[in-house]
Amino acid sequence: FNFNYDETYRPLYHHTPLYGWMNDPNGMVYFDGEYHLFFQYNPYGSKWANMHWGHSVSKDLKKWEYLPVALAPDSLGSIFSGSAVIDKDNTAGFGKDAMVAIYTSAGKSQTQSIAYSTDKGRTFTKYGHNPVLADPDIADFRDPKVFWHDASGQWVMSLATSQTITFYGSKNLKEWNKLSEFGEGTGSHAGVWECPDLLPLTYNGQTKWVLFVSINPGGPNGGSATQYFIGSFDGKTFRADNLSYPLWLDYGRDNYAGVTWNNVPAKDGRHLFIGWMNNWDYANSVPSLNFSSANTLVRELKLVHNGKHLVVASPPIAEMADLRRNGEKIGKKQVNKTYTLEKLLKDNQGAYEIEFSVKPKGVDRFEFKLVNIKGENIRFIFDLKKNTLSVDRAKSGLIDFSNNFATALINAPLVAKDYYKIRLFVDKASTELFVNDGELVQTNLVFPTEPYNSLVFATDGETIEIEDMNIYNLK
Ligand code: FRU
Repeated sequence: FNFNYDETYRPLYHHTPLYGWMNDPNGMVYFDGEYHLFFQYNPYGSKWANMHWGHSVSKDLKKWEYLPVALAPDSLGSIFSGSAVIDKDNTAGFGKDAMVAIYTSAGKSQTQSIAYSTDKGRTFTKYGHNPVLADPDIADFRDPKVFWHDASGQWVMSLATSQTITFYGSKNLKEWNKLSEFGEGTGSHAGVWECPDLLPLTYNGQTKWVLFVSINPGGPNGGSATQYFIGSFDGKTFRADNLSYPLWLDYGRDNYAGVTWNNVPAKDGRHLFIGWMNNWDYANSVPSLNFSSANTLVRELKLVHNGKHLVVASPPIAEMADLRRNGEKIGKKQVNKTYTLEKLLKDNQGAYEIEFSVKPKGVDRFEFKLVNIKGENIRFIFDLKKNTLSVDRAKSGLIDFSNNFATALINAPLVAKDYYKIRLFVDKASTELFVNDGELVQTNLVFPTEPYNSLVFATDGETIEIEDMNIYNLK
């Protein structure tokens, strides 16, 4: 390769394509010691075009190995988003344990196609009778996410069908019949529905089915974002519990089209999620050169109670602690005006984690911000009167590449607590803020021209107590 891999905004511990454009994560599946990550990919440049499936694998969800392109456009069109399964019982007849990819062929119309691999995803053969599912009446007809539903003994596909999600069932991955349709009259419909995922999560021993629906535009802070519904699924129909929708997985602007891994070993049992760390509002103009876009950290999905109702929490997977290199431990502090940590780390490459807990002691408002030597900064503002957690990236570094990047404060609803546990992951061009084990998440890109190397706390004059602070270089 004849290009500079280590360009300024190439992250140190997030997955990116080696070269070229990336959007949605696709076909995530575990098989024989490897976590596969396919992705919407343009191998010829760093703008959206020529959709292929790129391919990377990881043994530990921390380090990724690049593999050749898995699926390339054909006479049915380019290769849009989709999923992959392991066909343990050879239901499709492609072989026992075949890896089967189910994806959208985007040509004159959008249809669903399949392809299979019997060499651990290294090469795929497209099925000879594609497409396997078409509906000429629906223009936005895409992003099949398939899983084996044991209780009803069938494959179940969730498919984005314009303003709804339609569920289909199949015995063999080749013939699909409609089960039901969900979405009319609930959730946000401010944009087109995309990239669904239906999965079971347990809370207090009770199984709930959660339906993820990405939407573009119409996110809570503009552009693309992922909403979800909590309810039940009986093998035919998804019914949402009576909650106040939309609920958003991540209130930040840069976590889109995320779905979960299939076939995670039972002994692991986690629901592992990864998103595309970007926003259609400006993805085609972000200031990277030879590549575009990173993924979020891999996150574990959990159903938790936030004090008001059930929510899907998405903390980073526990393995992320293995990335910690040398660190700094900071003693307990009472802050009633400002408190500045001048130098976060000695050898600051712009890739680190900060963890601490905050106890509000009478404050209505406090904030902390990351600042670099040029004064560029990103602020995290807790307003306990308005019950919001806002992120301000208006002075975070390069912002002029798009009018849509640094617009208003990026707001999330905050449930008042007497204790907030914070983990903030910073990489070359991203911030991922997890509050109380991922109960509240804000993922936001930033393009500082020097690494942020100070941390400044400020309150409204009343007191906060900061405890258990550690800062780690990550690699
Ligand atoms: C979501 C999306 C999908 C589509 C893909 C095309 O970001 O629009 O609906 O399959 O991107 O690249």
